[in-house]
Amino acid sequence: MRLNKFLSHAGVASRRKCDEYIESGKIQVNGKKVTDFSYQVQLDDIVLCDRRLVENTNERLVYLLNKPKGYICTNSDTHDRKKVVDLLPSNERLFTIGRLDRDTTGAILVTNDGDLANQLMHPRFKKEKIYLAETKEDIEDKLLPTLTKGIKLERGEFAKGQIKRLDRYKGRILWEVILTEGKNREVKRIFETFGTNVVSLHRHSFAGLNVNNLKVGKYRQLNSKIIQSLF
Ligand code: URA
Repeated sequence: MRLNKFLSHAGVASRRKCDEYIESGKIQVNGKKVTDFSYQVQLDDIVLCDRRLVENTNERLVYLLNKPKGYICTNSDTHDRKKVVDLLPSNERLFTIGRLDRDTTGAILVTNDGDLANQLMHPRFKKEKIYLAETKEDIEDKLLPTLTKGIKLERGEFAKGQIKRLDRYKGRILWEVILTEGKNREVKRIFETFGTNVVSLHRHSFAGLNVNNLKVGKYRQLNSKIIQSLF
């Protein structure tokens, strides 16, 4: 593994910051200063940053989190907003697998393995996502099946999935929406195309993993069997 990746995986800092550490001579490998970013770290290398041992756990961590409202799915934010990754215990750099909007709650996976995050976000993996959405206005029954064939969103994109009206209460309508792709604001844009707006959105499950037993803001670590089942 490249030295800068090794350092960021081990939680030393972001990849860019690690490059700075390497450049400024803070990193030693087997007692020698290494300033080459692309140095390939070997299993038995002893890596020090500022004379402190850098331990590489190499363990792949994946968490299922019940995202609260008000948190964003990014690693770094220039506006100092609350981040989903800050709700997790790891000292390592973490990545969300896909994104939920700031005002969306519910199931989101978070991992220390950036490659895994990229793979699972790829549309080819077709991970089923089940959303519960509330609207104030209704949608005509005859429009609902059109989502199964695919509807055109603005900007020429298509969305395909299933939509079902679950309930009507207190002036709101509750919908279940099942999608397999992860386009930006996909659920909200589907409802906009149907002529209404989402007033609350919750992701009930991602790839069959639901957050029924997780309080808002809480997480659980997935075991390797469950991680394997994601592929
Ligand atoms: N679709 C949306 O519109 N928002 C989300 O957060 C997730 C899916």
